[in-house]
Amino acid sequence: MEKFNIAIDGPAGAGKSTIARLVAGALGFVYVDTGAMYRAVTWKVQHEGLRPDQENEVAALANRMQIELIPREEGQQVFVDGVDVTKEIRTIAITDHVSQIASYGAVRQLLVTLQKQMAISKGVVMDGRDIGTHVMPDAEIKVFLTASVEERAERRFNEMQNSGTCTLTLSELERDIARRDQLDQDREISPLRRAHDAVLMDSTSMTIEEVVDEILGLCKDKVGGG
Ligand code: DC
Repeated sequence: MEKFNIAIDGPAGAGKSTIARLVAGALGFVYVDTGAMYRAVTWKVQHEGLRPDQENEVAALANRMQIELIPREEGQQVFVDGVDVTKEIRTIAITDHVSQIASYGAVRQLLVTLQKQMAISKGVVMDGRDIGTHVMPDAEIKVFLTASVEERAERRFNEMQNSGTCTLTLSELERDIARRDQLDQDREISPLRRAHDAVLMDSTSMTIEEVVDEILGLCKDKVGGG
């Protein structure tokens, strides 16, 4: 099948990673979770004892470190300078500071360059906040995936309860998601925006399978694949 690229953007907790991974699996494409790269930088910042507000030092560190993304069936494995940080980058300690790190121009420039390189050979499903607008503006398929704050908080809550990592109440999670939405939408460089040519999907009352099927349908319509 002809290879093409798929950009999936949207706010935190809209189900982007799960859906992007399933779409990539169905098409035999590579899934790239770009949020994990911003999380990896945040992990390194903490590991090196820097404060997240030390912008110049954070940028210099980001330039020195090596991030590797290894696609696996169960998700993407993330290594920082050879250390497997896949699990640690999902902790609240990282989530609390990642939006600030992701607002730094030098960090974004570096990661966007790496992401663009990953997309060159096509056959990539990439999820993030600026994929359709900046990283892959020429992607054949663009989706802006959203859901209500309440629904996203509830999904996160259930996920955390199932994995036994739930330390927040539902209303704390709602506040946290709303705060991150605000930070991602209001930052100066590459804020979270729907690309003018992205298809808007509101997954509030859709199942994962329904969203995946709809995206695969778009692929069939637009590129004759799927
Ligand atoms: O999707 P996520 O929660 O793992 O993203 C972590 C943070 O990184 C979040 O604050 C948004 C930011 N991010 C970004 O600015 N650009 C991307 N392409 C992906 C994530």
